[in-house]
Amino acid sequence: MIRAVKGTRDLLPPDTSVWNAVERVARDLFRAYHYGEIRTPILEETQLFARGVGQETDIVSKEMYTFEDRDGSSLTLRPENTAGVMRAYIEHRLDQRPGVQKLFYIGPMFRRERPQKGRYRQFFQIGAEAIGSDSPFVDAEVIEMVVEMLCRAGLSGFTLLINSVGDANCRPAYVEKLREALKPVAPQLCGDCQRRADTNPLRVLDCKVPEDQAIINELPTIVENLCEPCGAHFAAVRSFLDDRGIGYEVRPRLVRGLDYYMRTTFEVAHGNLGAQNAVLGGGRYDGLAEAIGSPVAAPGIGFSIGEDRLAMTVDRAAEQELDVFIAPLGDAALRHAGALARELRRAGTSVEVAANAKLKRAMELANKLGARYALILGDDEIAAGEYTLKQMETGEQHRVARGEILQRIGQKN
Ligand code: HAM
Repeated sequence: MIRAVKGTRDLLPPDTSVWNAVERVARDLFRAYHYGEIRTPILEETQLFARGVGQETDIVSKEMYTFEDRDGSSLTLRPENTAGVMRAYIEHRLDQRPGVQKLFYIGPMFRRERPQKGRYRQFFQIGAEAIGSDSPFVDAEVIEMVVEMLCRAGLSGFTLLINSVGDANCRPAYVEKLREALKPVAPQLCGDCQRRADTNPLRVLDCKVPEDQAIINELPTIVENLCEPCGAHFAAVRSFLDDRGIGYEVRPRLVRGLDYYMRTTFEVAHGNLGAQNAVLGGGRYDGLAEAIGSPVAAPGIGFSIGEDRLAMTVDRAAEQELDVFIAPLGDAALRHAGALARELRRAGTSVEVAANAKLKRAMELANKLGARYALILGDDEIAAGEYTLKQMETGEQHRVARGEILQRIGQKN
């Protein structure tokens, strides 16, 4: 038997109705905050991620699905979409359009990680990017929008973690300081950290190995080593969040796994997710445009929600509602049922017709499908212009005229 590829999965009803509900909430909020949808290709040139996300990151060095195309060029299935959105921004000169460019996307990403609960090789993100401003007000607005989105999607009990990772002015000096502080303790850390202590010391800070934590907690933090403008930017972001009554924790070790971040970084963690507890991640990336070859600066900030993780965490009944199940008795009734179903569906009702079941079987099926009402159509009913409408929960039956059906079933539309 051919099965879905390891780390990928089929999303089936009724689970997909939770996904649709989450996406509806997201689209409504994006509209309220004046974000427009962008759809970029799933395939990009490998260089985009190598330069944008960073050669030394886990994503680029171990997790990308990269292949050589027939013409010899190297292509990659996008592992994330911030670099792709920025490429499109530059390619289409969106900097020439008025105001901050506010773009959102919903779609699949690919990372060859070890699959586990909440971690897949094809996963979905709901993301947004605000490009064209370095104002801390934009940071607070982006964070506010995503917190609002999580609440409206039905998520509770989450924690917003924020940090600043400085900029090209203050970070190099901090990284040197960290490298020095790591020298004497690196041999006591895990293998990955020993390597990172040299190649990319910031990555040591988000090591998850429990035995390493006591040592990592003693290392100098970046928030204590910010330059004056970065310190002022971070203070402004925090005070704008305070103005809006948005609760957060400052996590000085939150450095995130992508190299393009500058200044504000944030994550939302949720207890029910176990080891993969980040529902979303985001931050500011003021140098990304230049890193991928833009002649003009394009400061930006954004986030990506892990839709798989959000969908498994939200507290919501996943039932797909069926309003009416029509049970036609015989061929003439089946033809009649087709036209009636069309009329009811046009009025916004969800309808199933039992195309080839006897009455007893049809009623059993109506029960299993959780239909609210069953409508029984026989020759007598059709001749009389009245049908038998059964409320499935109570078992109550009534004869109703065609024109009364919608009113009886309490159709909202
Ligand atoms: P990220 O932290 O790599 O950031 O991913 C964002 C979210 O995607 C994670 O918090 C998680 O919920 C979800 N995610 C990541 N990998 C997996 C996986 N293998 N399986 C399931 N879910 C996963 C980014 O991708 C940045 N582009 C975020 C961003 C946007 N920064 C600025 N703008």
